[in-house]
Amino acid sequence: MQSDRLQAFVDDVEVVVRGTADEHEITERVAVLMSALLADGYQLPPELTRPSPARPMTYPLHIAPDDSWSIASVVWDLDQRTNVHSHETWGVVGIYAGAELETRYLKPTTSAAPAPLTPAGETRWVPGQVNVCCTTDDDVHSVTAVGSEPTIGIHVYGGNISRIRRRSYDPATGETDWFTSGWDSPEPARVTP
Ligand SMILES: [Fe+2]
Repeated sequence: MQSDRLQAFVDDVEVVVRGTADEHEITERVAVLMSALLADGYQLPPELTRPSPARPMTYPLHIAPDDSWSIASVVWDLDQRTNVHSHETWGVVGIYAGAELETRYLKPTTSAAPAPLTPAGETRWVPGQVNVCCTTDDDVHSVTAVGSEPTIGIHVYGGNISRIRRRSYDPATGETDWFTSGWDSPEPARVTP
């Protein structure tokens, strides 16, 4: 059962999160667990894989009861892209379908006056690959769907990502705005008679 495989992943991540507050240790260990989840051929519920032509979708896959961590299914339609944004916590991303181009930036110190962001490299991620997108001090990027099918990532974050106050950046000036993403509601699965 796919739900059993997900539950095993949730249980394993829970052990990691409860065991240490070190974000580098957490992300390293969660990345190993994510790689195994993808290698096992875990299948997301179909209703959590649906793109929207309007914008990337963020569906909840698991939210810890105390909001200390969460799993999201993030779905980009063809060619969709995010703005440059922060996460303000740790995060691990496993690519489930499609392909994403990640453009990273150094995180500006909050005490400095706004200045153009410093690019920190681009990486093309494909299914089965796992990356540590974020630790609180290194968590600024934009993502573009570059595959020939919708891009889907399984994302694990160190909080309820829908509620975390996060920054969006104008990379040309370093000016910031704050946002919270919320969750998107999956369409109910179609029942075939
Ligand atoms: Fe992101």
